Amino acid sequence: MAEETVTIVDNRTGNRADLPILQGTEGPSVVDISRFYKEFGLFTLDPGFQSTASCESAITFVDGDEGILLYRGYPVEQLAEKSTFLEVCYLLLEGELPTRSQYDRFCRTVMQETMIDEQMRNFYKGYRHDAHPMAIMVGMMGAFSAFFHDSLDIQNPKHRELSLFRLIGKLPTIAAASYKYSVGQPFIFPKSKLGYIENFLRMLLKVPSAKFKISPRLVRAMEQIFILHADHEQGASASTVRLAGSSMANPFAAISAGISSLWGPTHGGADEAVLQMLREIGSVDRIGAYIQRAKDPNDPFRLMGFGHRVYKKYDPRARMMKKIAQDVLSELGREDDPLFQLALKLEEIAHDDDYFCRKGLCPNIELYSGIAQSAIGIPSNMFTVVFAMARSVGWICQWMEMIGSKESIGRPRQLYVGASCRDYVPLHRRP
Ligand code: CMC
Repeated sequence: MAEETVTIVDNRTGNRADLPILQGTEGPSVVDISRFYKEFGLFTLDPGFQSTASCESAITFVDGDEGILLYRGYPVEQLAEKSTFLEVCYLLLEGELPTRSQYDRFCRTVMQETMIDEQMRNFYKGYRHDAHPMAIMVGMMGAFSAFFHDSLDIQNPKHRELSLFRLIGKLPTIAAASYKYSVGQPFIFPKSKLGYIENFLRMLLKVPSAKFKISPRLVRAMEQIFILHADHEQGASASTVRLAGSSMANPFAAISAGISSLWGPTHGGADEAVLQMLREIGSVDRIGAYIQRAKDPNDPFRLMGFGHRVYKKYDPRARMMKKIAQDVLSELGREDDPLFQLALKLEEIAHDDDYFCRKGLCPNIELYSGIAQSAIGIPSNMFTVVFAMARSVGWICQWMEMIGSKESIGRPRQLYVGASCRDYVPLHRRP
C-alpha cells in the first residue's frame, strides 16, 4: 500500500513536500514533521502541545472523546476492579500480564527493596518541621540519585530494571517518612511480608504506642486509587520525566523533576485543592456563587476537579473514583459525608450548566480522590504524594521506553520574539 502523506505547500516560495502520515494502533494518525525544517526552513508552533505528539509510545492510550483509558490495551476499569497495583506495575513494565510465578517473583523483588539507606534519614532533618511532604519528596528523590549514581549504567537493561524495583520498593518508605517528619512522629520501618499497599498505610498511619489495624476494604480501595493513577501517557509530569531523562540524566533525578511537575494544582496538586475548595464552599446554597466565579473571565478561580486537556465528555477514572469514595464511606457508615454530598451536587450543577457543557468541562479523577483518601485516613497534604507514588511506575516505564528507543535529546525550538542582535553599551554611556 502506498504511504499516506499530507502535502504542504509554502505559498511564499511554492516549495512543496509530502509528509508521511503515521498510523498508530489506536487514536488519530500523526503527521511526521521531523523533516519540516529541512524542507521549508520553518519551525512549527504548538504551545502546550495542543496538536503535537511528542513521542511514539506503546504503554498507555487515552481516548478523550470516548472516555477510554487503556494500560497496555487493558481498560483501566477492569484493572481497578480485578487487578492489584503490583500486577499493574508488571503489566506497564513488561507489556503483558504476569503468570503466577512471574507475579510472585515480581512482588517479592519489590518488597525486598523497601528499606532505605540509613543515611537518607539524615536528609529529612534539613527540612523545616512544617515543610510540605511534596517538597520533601522532590528533595528526597533527588537525594536518591546520589545513592545509586556510579553503580547505574542506564544503557544496561538490567540496571534499568533494577532502578524500577528500587523506585517502586522504596518510594512508600520515603513518602511515609516525609509525612512522619512533617508531624514530628517517629519513622516506621517497612514490613516486607505485608502487601505493598498495606505496608505503605502501616508506615504512614501507625504510631509505635498503638497497634495498627485497618479494614481490608479500605486497603483494597487504596489499591484501586493507586491503579487509577498509575500512568496517563504523555501528561505534563511524564513528559517532564522523558525530557529530563533524554539528556541521559540519572533516572531518579528525572523522576524528581516529574514529582515537581505533578505538584502543581492544575495537575496532581488538584486533589488537595479540591478538598480546600469544597471546605471553602461549605454548603450547597453557596455552590452557585462559586460556579459564577468559575465562569467569570476576570476571576482566576477555576472549579478544581473539573476539566481535562484530553477528556472532554468524561474521565473514566472519575467514575471509578466516585464509586471508590462511595464504597469507603459506606464501609465507614458515613454515606452522608458533607464534602461528598457537596461534590455530588457540584457535579450535578456543572453537568447542567451551559458553560461547562460548551467547554467540555467534566469531573476529572481528582474530584473524588481527596474525599476517598481522606475517609481512608490519608492526611490531605499526602494526597499528591500518593498520586506521585502511584504515577512513578508510569514515569519509570516511560523513561525506560524512551532510553530503550534511543530517542535523541529533547530539544524544542521556539518562535523568538525578543530583541534583535545589538551592541553592548558600556554603563557610563547609557542614558
Ligand atoms: N473551571 C472553570 N473553567 C475552566 C476550568 C475549570 N476547572 N478548566 C478549564 N476552564 C476553561 C478555561 O478558563 C478556558 O476558558 P476560555 O477558553 O474562555 O479561556 C477553557 O476552559 C479551556 O481551558 P484551558 O486551561 O485552556 O484547558 P486545558 O485543557 O489546557 O486545561 C486543565 C486542562 C486540567 C489544566 C484545566 O481544566 C484546569 O485547570 N482544571 C482545574 C484543575 C484540575 O482539576 N486539574 C486536575 C486535572 S486531572 C489530573 C491530572 O491528570 O493532572
